[in-house]
Amino acid sequence: MAQYNMVDYFNDIDKKGLKKTWHSILSKTLNKTFESRIFIIDNFGELYEIGLEYVNKNTKKEMGKYYTPKDVAAVMAKWLINLKGEKICDVGCGCGNLILSYLDTIGPDEAIKLINNGNLYLYDLDEIALNICKYSIAIKYGKELLSKIKTKSGDFLAQNVKLPQNCKVISNPPYFKIKEYGENWKITKVIKDSKELYSAFIEKIITQSMASVIITPYSFIGSDKFYSLRQIMNNYNGFIVSFDNVPGNIFHGRKHGIFNTNTGNSVRAAITVVENAANIKGFRVSPLIRFKAEERSKVLNNDFLWNLINERYQVVNTQTKAFYKCHKDLLKILDCWEKNSDDKLGNIINSSIGEKIYLPTTCRYFTVGSKRNLKRNGKRVICVKDKEKYNYVYCLLNSTFAYWYWRLYDGGINCPLAIINNIPIFYNKLTATQKNEIDSLAHEMQECEEKYLVYKMNAGKSQENIKFPIEYRQRINKIFFKALGINESTAILAKIHSSSLFDNREFDDNE
Ligand SMILES: C[S@@+](CC[C@H](N)C(=O)[O-])C[C@H]1O[C@@H](n2cnc3c(N)ncnc32)[C@H](O)[C@@H]1O
Repeated sequence: MAQYNMVDYFNDIDKKGLKKTWHSILSKTLNKTFESRIFIIDNFGELYEIGLEYVNKNTKKEMGKYYTPKDVAAVMAKWLINLKGEKICDVGCGCGNLILSYLDTIGPDEAIKLINNGNLYLYDLDEIALNICKYSIAIKYGKELLSKIKTKSGDFLAQNVKLPQNCKVISNPPYFKIKEYGENWKITKVIKDSKELYSAFIEKIITQSMASVIITPYSFIGSDKFYSLRQIMNNYNGFIVSFDNVPGNIFHGRKHGIFNTNTGNSVRAAITVVENAANIKGFRVSPLIRFKAEERSKVLNNDFLWNLINERYQVVNTQTKAFYKCHKDLLKILDCWEKNSDDKLGNIINSSIGEKIYLPTTCRYFTVGSKRNLKRNGKRVICVKDKEKYNYVYCLLNSTFAYWYWRLYDGGINCPLAIINNIPIFYNKLTATQKNEIDSLAHEMQECEEKYLVYKMNAGKSQENIKFPIEYRQRINKIFFKALGINESTAILAKIHSSSLFDNREFDDNE
């Protein structure tokens, strides 16, 4: 039998269109009336993507499709196994990366039993992808199972689409902004507030299932427009792990086999595991996990990730509207900082008069505050009206505390003003001696700002920043620790500035 190849594929698409081409590939593979070294289950997703791009260059972006890499799917599948729920649903299954990984994880006997009992449900808007998923399962576990797999092709958010009773869900929903509400949607507050498709999926999944494992962008953890989603989450429980996208990125480095070199995308992702254990409310949250590309296999390990998560179940309320992403061993320090603070930074920098401090808006590994008007795009100017507090604010912005606060509640590209305004301040906890120490350290730093100027090119323009020696930050941190009554060594804060979880050294490249 001649080997079916890429030339045949493109010819078929030209002649019959994508849908009929795939129908033929799938039924021939199932019936073993076709031979190909390329068209095998492992490659179907990518080959379909290539077909889509061949037909329409923009489809992938328009549909918000970012496929789950194998190693990430394996982590999610392992977490799903232990959750309650008899029926298994993959929502937005695409070509089946998640469900195939789950079936692989439970092994062929359990997989066949699950399907035979009519307990496997697949949902996707894209009929061809859904068929690829269904056939891949039947090709792998038995032709006779094809009719036992329950599929729903259509808009998952339509009200007539419901998850079955007693189910658990694995999902990588589509990510894109809602421009128009779907015809048959229930327009919830979450949808109105966030206008993001993925949060509508999270809401529907968690309110209709016993438990779930969902991978999405991480923005719902902290950003304001997802507060109503977090309020809904208050009624459930589980844990969330979130990943930074530099230096390593969990969507980056997925295998592209022999077909193309597409390098994925740069979404900061979170995996939410909804466990719904008895008598618990809220979610335990990991720090924002930063890792190097070569550490990927160490990071994408269930035990490793599990061990990063602190014990606290977080619920949101009008005082604390966001989840914070705190390292396990820094939680006590965070508590102590918040307990000893009697104001927010915003209340002392809310004036247009007073001495100025300049802050670059981007902050990758530390925050900077300067007296010098930095020659750069992307900077904020804040004024400290109360002269006495100027040096305290200056030091705070150059300390680990300001940077940490941003990592806890955001950690994206820019440091939003709302985050700066919310930083808890403890000026009143400083003794007269500590205030003097802060004053003289601030003067010392201000005098040498010029010496530590650094320049980077961005969009053809030179951007000025200051890279103070790390010792300055450490000296400020020491005074602040004393003021807060923390006896621990400030060395514990180094990991906040590190470029990898496996390396506790401070990294000092900021842009
Ligand atoms: C991010 S992809 C995930 C694909 C696959 N589950 C994976 O993890 O690799 C999202 C999937 O959701 C599907 N989708 C988009 N909008 C949808 C909707 N309104 N209802 C159901 N599925 C939808 C897309 O066709 C796509 O297959």
